[in-house]
Amino acid sequence: MTVHLRDYTAPAYEIPETHLDFSLSPEATRVISRLKLVRRDKDADRITLQGEKLVLNSVAIDGQTVGTDRYELTDTSLTLLGLGETAEVEISVTIAPKDNTALMGLYMSGGRYCTQCEAEGFRRITYFLDRPDCLSRFTVRVEADKDNFPTLLSNGDTVENGDAGNGRHYAVFVDPHPKPTYLFALVAGAFDSIFDTFTTRSGQAVKLGVHVDPGQAGRAHFAMDALKRSMKWDEDVFQREYDLAEFHIVAVRDFNFGAMENKGLNIFNSSLLLADADTATDADFLNVERVVAHEYFHNWSGNRITLRDWFQLCLKEGLTVYRDQEFSSDMRSRPLQRIHDVQGLRAIQFPEDDGPLAHPPRPSEFETIENFYTSTVYNKGAEVVRVLRELLGAEGFAEGMQRYFDDNDGTAATLEDFMAAFDFGSVEAREAAFRWYQQAGTPTLTMKRAHDAGTGEVTLTLTQSQKPTPGQTDKAPLPIPLRIGFLDSAGQVLPLSNDGTASEEHHLTFDSAETQLRFDGAAEMPIPAILRGFNAPVKVETDLTQDEKLVQMAHDPDPFTRWDTGQLMMAEAMLARADGKAQSGPPLERIAEALAGEFQRADFEPGFVARAIRPASVSELIMQTHTPDPAALFAAQLDTRRALSAALADQREAEFARPAPDPQSLDNDAIGRRALRSTFLFLAAAEGEASADLALKAFREAGNMTDSMAALRALAEIGGPAFDRALSTFETRWKSDPLVMDKWFSLQAMAPQDGTERVRKLASHPLFSLKNPNRARSVYGAFANANPVCFHAEDGSGYDLVAEALIQLDPINPGTAARIVRSFETWKRFDNNRQAHARAALERVLAAAKSTNLKEVITKTLRG
Ligand code: TRP
Ligand code: ZN
Repeated sequence: MTVHLRDYTAPAYEIPETHLDFSLSPEATRVISRLKLVRRDKDADRITLQGEKLVLNSVAIDGQTVGTDRYELTDTSLTLLGLGETAEVEISVTIAPKDNTALMGLYMSGGRYCTQCEAEGFRRITYFLDRPDCLSRFTVRVEADKDNFPTLLSNGDTVENGDAGNGRHYAVFVDPHPKPTYLFALVAGAFDSIFDTFTTRSGQAVKLGVHVDPGQAGRAHFAMDALKRSMKWDEDVFQREYDLAEFHIVAVRDFNFGAMENKGLNIFNSSLLLADADTATDADFLNVERVVAHEYFHNWSGNRITLRDWFQLCLKEGLTVYRDQEFSSDMRSRPLQRIHDVQGLRAIQFPEDDGPLAHPPRPSEFETIENFYTSTVYNKGAEVVRVLRELLGAEGFAEGMQRYFDDNDGTAATLEDFMAAFDFGSVEAREAAFRWYQQAGTPTLTMKRAHDAGTGEVTLTLTQSQKPTPGQTDKAPLPIPLRIGFLDSAGQVLPLSNDGTASEEHHLTFDSAETQLRFDGAAEMPIPAILRGFNAPVKVETDLTQDEKLVQMAHDPDPFTRWDTGQLMMAEAMLARADGKAQSGPPLERIAEALAGEFQRADFEPGFVARAIRPASVSELIMQTHTPDPAALFAAQLDTRRALSAALADQREAEFARPAPDPQSLDNDAIGRRALRSTFLFLAAAEGEASADLALKAFREAGNMTDSMAALRALAEIGGPAFDRALSTFETRWKSDPLVMDKWFSLQAMAPQDGTERVRKLASHPLFSLKNPNRARSVYGAFANANPVCFHAEDGSGYDLVAEALIQLDPINPGTAARIVRSFETWKRFDNNRQAHARAALERVLAAAKSTNLKEVITKTLRG
């Protein structure tokens, strides 16, 4: 059952008005919907509504209860027959939220009711046109037991509430903004709530509420603050104001994804909302800030302007990720944010683009849309917006964004509508840029130099190429925005001229298969950086020599380039070692020397240095190797870490001799210094037992969760009884805190020495459950994604372990199973023996799988 973009047709009827009436009860919730249907297509007399796992009680059309002569019912639909120009339809169904373990539709989490309707969850609540282009004005009445469910929430503004008799109460909500079903939300339960107010720039007061598990209010304040900063930022940077009198965020423990942008009522995975220094790491805080912003920004990029169909998903997700990345850059450090985002892109999106699940940011077909909430749609989607900004210039981009918001407000739009808002100068230029959305695969950009000593001219020959991806063999060139700058061999900035103007940095677009760029004024062969800031999602190959790269990593004025070239040098050193050819790689002493220079810079930023001196993970190295041997790569990484640790011992001692940064402070310097200490522990842990004292001391003295986790991660690598003691100390302290225990579980699942055994034990821990996605991911997701040595074990034991778990998980929660199974996407990079183990494991899961979600991912993975 493949759905194709080219088959889009608008629905035959519209539903301008929807009334929903919920009488909540765990086993039998009654949902009555009253829909106003208006014909669009003049020949139509019927409409098929989607519905799944519903018990139909009754159907009435225009006030008359009707029988099967007026409707057809299947497992997944209700077709209303004999309709005229307009109709009033009333449908009553019963559902069982308590039995809903898939966590799509209306379900219960921690004894509270909540919903998740994106992408196709609303059809598990009632029969409806469950598609994003059906915009309806919702009025919702919610009734529930008063003592157990004191807080009632739905989208929009509360217009009425009161007692409903029999110990029950009710509230009525009106959302004045027409919206598709995927943005519907309902919450009922006992919460601790904190409230605040935000006044928009046009003077509207907005009541803000953050609702969390009882006892957790202290961990909600950071999210509230992040929300207010997001609201202000969207006014300042994108001129976007909030548009309702209330805005609520609710945290739930059982959630399939990060968070959801339901109109006026965002629902969050508690792992992305609750944060205080005792229980959350700095990385968690930054994630909370980013996701609060992301969901809030959807109010415009997603809700006010929604999607015509799910193929356009990237229109809201890519754009909103771009917006949240910009927000984080403004709140924190722009270069660090860029490094963080590119590292994530390369770790997850590049492998996806290079494997059997590769697809363009706008796919043209799918079986289950839930499987397309991918890194390509989200992260490459954001990169494409960044490419557009570079192509158009900051001003042209900003103007186009305003035009997009103005022209499409209140509609269900397409990526074509988005592109139409920008002035590219020509139809051809717009079409060329649009290809970024339509082509899968990561382009490779190569650069070769020639220098004419007589004229001082340097010529850069650039080529771009793209490998075929599943279902897409022909690739046209893409417009790649470049920022080019040069150094001389001593590391001095060289302002060469292009077209007669000398400049330290040249902004140019490369949009053909091959081109030559000429620059004047170079007395010697210069050292160019061509993709400063990394403003296009491409792989770069250059002809720079080892010596030149060492100069570049030490001296390029662009921090991204220094970080990137340093990573490349370290990776080359590690890959050479793993190959038994350490001599042919760049010498570690010289790399360490260049890195040591970072500590001396006038613009020294500890958070940057923490990333600069941390060599690539084994997973990253796997992506750079043909038939990788994870154990050999790990050994090479350990070697390299030991060498760097020894070379940077003075810097480490100097840092640890200083008083620790304030454990409550989240300013750049405090976060950066903690990150630096953490990297030092990581480097030192490669020395094994010899570093145990350092790690244990750090564990004992840890003043917050960031420091505790950094020390524990180091101990996990050192292993032995010290690690087990630390684990049990930690468990005793945190056993009643699920979010912290998730960290305890995943830390062990990632332990490289004995991860497989540990995971087998963890699965029978009393606190383990496959029903909670966070917990399932903390064990199996962490193992499959972040323990490459054990997951890719030669004997297939890692694959088997994950396969067994997936077989159990699929009937409980197919969406989560289909996400964890993606870790197999790199299987064809490995040797025949590992491939055979992976194939057998996948085939076993496929044979047992019941869900379309899991079957689609495995079938494509095996085929690719
Ligand atoms: N739109 C959500 C976001 O902000 C994604 C999302 C939340 C989702 N819950 C989901 C996607 C469940 C699929 C299934 O990015
Ligand atoms: Zn989103």
